[in-house]
Amino acid sequence: MNIEVLDDADAVALRAAETLVEVVEEARADQRPASVALSGGSTPRRLFRILADVFRGRVDWERVRIFFGDERNVAADHEDSNYRTARELLLSKVPIREDRIHRMEAAGEEIDRGAASYEEALRRFLPRANGDVPVLDLVWLGMGDDGHTASLFPLTRALEVVDRWVVVNEVPQLGTRRMTLTFPLLNAARRVQFLVTGRGKAAIVQDILGRDILGGESGRAGLTYPAARVLPASGQLDWLLDREAAAELKADG
Ligand code: 6PG
Repeated sequence: MNIEVLDDADAVALRAAETLVEVVEEARADQRPASVALSGGSTPRRLFRILADVFRGRVDWERVRIFFGDERNVAADHEDSNYRTARELLLSKVPIREDRIHRMEAAGEEIDRGAASYEEALRRFLPRANGDVPVLDLVWLGMGDDGHTASLFPLTRALEVVDRWVVVNEVPQLGTRRMTLTFPLLNAARRVQFLVTGRGKAAIVQDILGRDILGGESGRAGLTYPAARVLPASGQLDWLLDREAAAELKADG
């Protein structure tokens, strides 16, 4: 596990953008497009802007295939849509092939059929690891202040799914349903990168990553948070934090 504490949210976004350049070059060596799952929420907005601006010429967009980590139960043009945010800030501004952008169809009642067709898209366009799980090259994730990630919220059914890669998850905390990738898929990825910023996340970052709890009595506290259960089997796990989100992390020893 790689934990990087960076000066601020812009530095976190920059580091993530640099990771995409690395991942696309690695995939080029294997002569295939790099598959990237975008996270939702507000944190990635800086990343999308940097990718569309400073990094527009540094990423070989012809070699990128886009998936999403989760989607709200809204239409693609709804202000809450993760797809709409990515489309407006990034996908409409870079030369990525339309047939390589895989939107989660999650509006209204289509969400159930949408999850089934998304599973088919993952199966069709991604290489497989042992156990037949599709392998994403890079998954960007955020973390909520309750420790959720993607739409894997505490105490929800999707946390226990072991035989599907994308599901519709009832989220009573929000009184809604969401489409979300599941732990089996997240943990099969070659690289998973959390982008977590802001003082509001510091306590949970400490619960999950704090040096003094890994393996200790309160170490189990971290495992109650869904974000703590993203532990790639063989892939690289990065936590990119700004100083505010890392404010409660205790040093080693
Ligand atoms: C979503 C995200 C969700 C997000 C966290 C953090 O659809 O909202 O996938 O998991 O990453 O809630 O959100 P912020 O980046 O806005 O803090």
